[in-house]
Amino acid sequence: MGKSKSFSILSFSLVIIPLMLTVVLIGCGSKAEFEPKPPTKADDQEEVYRKYNVERGRRLVELGGCSQCHTPKIKTALGYKPDKDLFLSGYPSDEPLPDLPYAEIIAGEAENKFYTTDATIWVGRWGVSFAPNLTPDPETGIGNLTEEDFIEIFRGNKHFAEGAEVVSPMPVNVYSQLSFFELRSIFIYLQTIEPIPNDVPARIPPESDLFEGKDT
Ligand code: HEC
Repeated sequence: MGKSKSFSILSFSLVIIPLMLTVVLIGCGSKAEFEPKPPTKADDQEEVYRKYNVERGRRLVELGGCSQCHTPKIKTALGYKPDKDLFLSGYPSDEPLPDLPYAEIIAGEAENKFYTTDATIWVGRWGVSFAPNLTPDPETGIGNLTEEDFIEIFRGNKHFAEGAEVVSPMPVNVYSQLSFFELRSIFIYLQTIEPIPNDVPARIPPESDLFEGKDT
């Protein structure tokens, strides 16, 4: 009797206690591993700063009227209305060029200095320009553009590198007055909008063969 009692105490201390300890320790280990880390002060500030940038960018894009030219429109009885489902996705790449007197416009001999339909396409002395896709689609939008390059477009008029005579329908000289931080907010905001694949064509320069004899 006495022997078996001392055996059970022994087995309790030798087997059960280590077993319990193991369970407790494993339990603690997995808990530490899977529990989300509480945000640190630095994380918090980053998120607050990001939200502030997104909101400021959204306002600047609205006030800057970017959607007027960069969003395809729906034709209504009252005129063109921006298509919310295609927000800032640029000139619809599957749309045929509108029927216009291209050669005359480009030679400066047409009635008006420039022509547009729904403002995603502009024809003038500079040729034909198409409002590009500003959504974060990596292939056809600005998803792969760096913040520095984006800001440089407005700072250095990078896209007019072809020559000083090239003018743009986009009021770049107005937008270039935005501060570095404001342009940065616009870029951060644009990266949060719905990505829409739409491969907008590059500007057709005035000397393109395309205009030879067209509609003249
Ligand atoms: C009046 C029409 C118009 C408005 C308003 C407009 N854009 Fe544009 N944008 C264009 C056109 C057209 C192009 C194509 C290049 C060109 O011909 O200037 C363009 C080009 C761009 C480019 C690409 C330039 C490059 O070199 O790749 C960016 C980025 C851009 N616009 C951003 C904006 C932002 C941001 C706003 C608002 C703050 C805006 N645009 C407002 C018409 C417009």
